[in-house]
Amino acid sequence: MNNNFNPLSAEELTSRINKIPRVNLAQLPTVLEFAPNISKELGINLYIKRDDCTALAFGGNKTRHLEFIMAKTLSGDYDCILTGAASQSNFCRQAVAAANKLNLDSYLVLMHGIKGNLMQGNFLLYNILGANVDVIDGENLEEIPKHLDIKYNELIKEGRKPLLIYGGFGKEDTTLAGISYANAMAEIDLQMKEQNFMADHLFVTAANMTQAGCELGAKILNWPTRIQGISPVYWEMDIKKDIARICNDAAKMLDINLEFSHKMINHDNNYVGEKYGATTEDGIKATKLLANKEGIILDPVYTSKGFAALIDYVEKGIIKKGENVIFMFTGGSPAVFAYNDEIANNSNQ
Ligand SMILES: Cc1ncc(COP(=O)(O)O)c(C=O)c1O
Repeated sequence: MNNNFNPLSAEELTSRINKIPRVNLAQLPTVLEFAPNISKELGINLYIKRDDCTALAFGGNKTRHLEFIMAKTLSGDYDCILTGAASQSNFCRQAVAAANKLNLDSYLVLMHGIKGNLMQGNFLLYNILGANVDVIDGENLEEIPKHLDIKYNELIKEGRKPLLIYGGFGKEDTTLAGISYANAMAEIDLQMKEQNFMADHLFVTAANMTQAGCELGAKILNWPTRIQGISPVYWEMDIKKDIARICNDAAKMLDINLEFSHKMINHDNNYVGEKYGATTEDGIKATKLLANKEGIILDPVYTSKGFAALIDYVEKGIIKKGENVIFMFTGGSPAVFAYNDEIANNSNQ
């Protein structure tokens, strides 16, 4: 870490971020909500950042990312977007909705994974939103860029002008997405001041970009908070290095003199379960607990695992009784409808 760095205030950070091109897609700031019943149950003070309520087609963290990633379309050089992920992708749902708002067509290349073309949850929403969808056999998310490149060349041959969005696999996209979450941290900074507390821990269910933004924002704003990422996937790549790389690229873009290494990143993949997209018993239990205590619906693929980890960290004493904890609720709840069997038939009700 560079020791010559002077922390910024939330206002200073926001004003640097506001210099970066952006389209307006999200309703911000999202609420930072104290959750009294689950706090009592766990013996902590739990605050939930309601990024499930960013408002675009059921909301979620990706709406913040897309505000920066889609700014390129303002040039008028594109007539459609092309992106891809797993078949029940929250990112793709929000990307198609964003494209619709910007009068662009959408092409999705989706890995079949567990749910394939089951017409439910996010897949049903692609249909309602009017996306062109290809489902590819396989489940390795790291193969997505290769399939996107093939589709990109097809679209170019057809005379289309696609904005190719690699999302979590693109250097520029991940940097911009990281910046969008540094912005969310500036919001939280002001909200914590209003609510008169400082977080001891912040939990985020994270592949790479969202955690990177949280790490960056917390350092820029000089929080003492422990940022903890919980992984929804087992990566072949070194994800901590990737998160540190995003932090460094985003810091550079904001002209901030900070340097991150993978050793500074807390990222836990012990709650993935069998694999990406498969539910876990603890995740479903956590979903039902939060729904029962607060009326908040987590998702089966990401945030249920993040929240199960938060509960486990309390039980293990890593989060201590009475501490202030923020759970970054990154959305994803529409996927529950694609997981009706797994959720309803789970014995932990
Ligand atoms: C609900 C939800 N939470 C968390 C994530 C992880 O976000 P990131 O890829 O920015 O790490 C995703 C990504 O798809 C998501 O849909």
